[in-house]
Amino acid sequence: MQEELERLRRDARDRLAAAGDADAVEALRHELFGRTGELTTLLRGLAEIGPEERPAVGRLANEVRAEVQGAIDDRLAVMRAAVMRDQLVAEAIDMSSPGRPIRTGHLHPVMTVERDFREIFHAFGFEVFEGPEIETDAVNFEALNIPPDHPSRDLWDTLYVAEPGTDPPVPAEDGTILRTHTSPAQIRAMLALDPPIRVITPGRCFRYEAVDASHGFEFFQIEGLVVDQRTSLADLKGMLEEFARAFYGAATPTRFRPGYYPFTEPSVAFDIGCLVCGGPGCAACKQSGWMTLLGAGMVHPSVLAAGGHDPERYQGYAFGMGLDRMTLLRYGVPDLRLLMGADLRFLHQFSGGR
Ligand code: PHE
Repeated sequence: MQEELERLRRDARDRLAAAGDADAVEALRHELFGRTGELTTLLRGLAEIGPEERPAVGRLANEVRAEVQGAIDDRLAVMRAAVMRDQLVAEAIDMSSPGRPIRTGHLHPVMTVERDFREIFHAFGFEVFEGPEIETDAVNFEALNIPPDHPSRDLWDTLYVAEPGTDPPVPAEDGTILRTHTSPAQIRAMLALDPPIRVITPGRCFRYEAVDASHGFEFFQIEGLVVDQRTSLADLKGMLEEFARAFYGAATPTRFRPGYYPFTEPSVAFDIGCLVCGGPGCAACKQSGWMTLLGAGMVHPSVLAAGGHDPERYQGYAFGMGLDRMTLLRYGVPDLRLLMGADLRFLHQFSGGR
C-alpha cells in the first residue's frame, strides 16, 4: 500500500507536468480523485489494513492526497494567470499613439447663412413657416396675382411636373410645378395662421434657367411675411434696415428704390452698399456702388384675400431674398455652380476646421 502510494505520488507529478492546459489538468484531477479515480480507489483499500499499520499508512495517504491536490491547484492558478496575461496583452490599448480623427459632417455654406438669417429674424419675433417645394400653379402664381397670360410669368418660368405616362411630357393637369420662389408660402402661412402673422419661410426654389456662374435652376430663398391690423411701409423699411445692420454691420449704407411685383403694392427694391468695393463702384456692383439685397412691398389686397384675410381690416408686408448670392459674397466664392456642385473638396473648406 505504501509503495503504491509513493508510486502514485511520483506518477501524478509526471502526469501533471505533461498536462498542456487547464482542461488536461482538470481531466487528471478526475482520473485521480473522481468517484472511481486511482487515488480514491486506493484509499478505499485502507479499510482492509491491519490496525498496527493503519496510522502510518493513513498519514501517508493524507499527505499524498494533500500534496497532489495542492500541486493541481497551483498548476491551474499558474495556467489561468498566463491566459489572463495573454488576453491583457492582446487587448492592450496604446495610450501614446495619436488618435484617429473622426470625420463629422457640417452644414452646407448656404445653410449656415440661412441659420444666421433665422437667428436674426427670430430675435425680431419671426417664426419659421415652411412651405412645400412642389407647388401648384394656383398657389405659386394665381393666388399671387400672376394670371396665366401675365407677362411677369416669364420672370418666374418654372419646371413643370409631367402627367404620368405622357411622352412627350404633358404638364400635369392639376398644375403641379416646382415653386419658383418662396412667395407661395405667404399664401400657405396666411391660410394656416391667424393675424398677427410674423413668419419667415426659408427654402429651396427652382427656375427654368440656363445655368452659368450667377444663375442656377435650383436656389434658396428666405421670405418674410407680416400681417396685422396697422402694418405700414414704415414698418417694412424699419425692419429691413435693422436686418441689414444686424447682418452686415451698423455702418452699412442702405437705400430703397421703387420696384414691381404683382403680389405687392407698392413694391420696393432694397439695396445695401456694395460689399466688394464699399461704394466707389466695381465689377461686382456694375459700377453702381450698390447691391440689391431683396424685393419687398406691402402685400397686395387681392393676395391678402387669397390668403383668407379681409384687406379692409388687415395690411401686411412681405420681402423675399436669395440666399445663394449672399453666400457667394460672404465667402468670396466666384461661381454659383460650386455651391450646388456637391464637390466635397470645395465643401469641406466650410467645415469650420472639423
Ligand atoms: N418672390 C420674389 C422673387 O422671387 C421676391 C419678393 C418676395 C418680392 C416678397 C416681394 C415680396 O423675386
